[in-house]
Amino acid sequence: MDGNGRWALKRGLSRFEGHNKGADSVRTITRACRRLDIRALTLYAFSEQNWNRPVAEVESLMALLRRYLLEERAEIMENDIRLTTIGRTHRLPSSVSEPLADLIRDSAGNQSMDLCLALSYGGQEELGDAMRRLAQQVADGTLAPDAVDEQRIGAELWSSHLPPLDLLIRTSGELRLSNFMLWQAAYAELFFTPTLWPDFCEDDLNEAIESFRLRERRFGRTDENIEALLQAND
Ligand code: FPP
Repeated sequence: MDGNGRWALKRGLSRFEGHNKGADSVRTITRACRRLDIRALTLYAFSEQNWNRPVAEVESLMALLRRYLLEERAEIMENDIRLTTIGRTHRLPSSVSEPLADLIRDSAGNQSMDLCLALSYGGQEELGDAMRRLAQQVADGTLAPDAVDEQRIGAELWSSHLPPLDLLIRTSGELRLSNFMLWQAAYAELFFTPTLWPDFCEDDLNEAIESFRLRERRFGRTDENIEALLQAND
């Protein structure tokens, strides 16, 4: 969700105002995804690297997250949304981790959509942690080195509860993944837009989904391969 700072700067506002407006986009896009019956939405709300921002900005983001968790709670529950997280959430202050834990617990049985917040998240950190856990199991003798395949690695990731990543949207014109879901992005369709996150609205989401819909996903196969597979499944 990139571009909050630039959105604010263009208007002579503080970066906090940009994040605040970004939180409005979070609401708009989550509502739209629920309406569109999107199975899972993961929002990159705070990266592991974002801890290096000025203390005042980190504190204002934490305050915004707390407010979001308290204010959105009723709507999340009413809409049968399961809230989950990926990331080193033990680093979050208790002002955030407490309402977060409450909502994760209370929404655990909801089934219509997964809303996953990436908090203190990094894709390399996710893979590093998974590798360390697997290495420990191998060292303990509970896991054979040969058993460490792609499926086993995927099951060890923070995001193992999520369906495969289909579409990854990056706002604000940056053309990089910035450490987001590196493993999961292997076959995701990428959509880059110059729109700044606070301006990202339902029309922009629809444009991204339409672009996704028109793409041919081959997963390493040829066109003929896929045609034969589809016919065999008919
Ligand atoms: C990146 O934009 C954005 C962030 C580091 C924070 C994202 C947070 C929100 C959208 C609001 C809070 C989240 C929730 C779930 C309520 P930037 O600050 O790097 O923008 P810039 O590149 O234009 O400076």
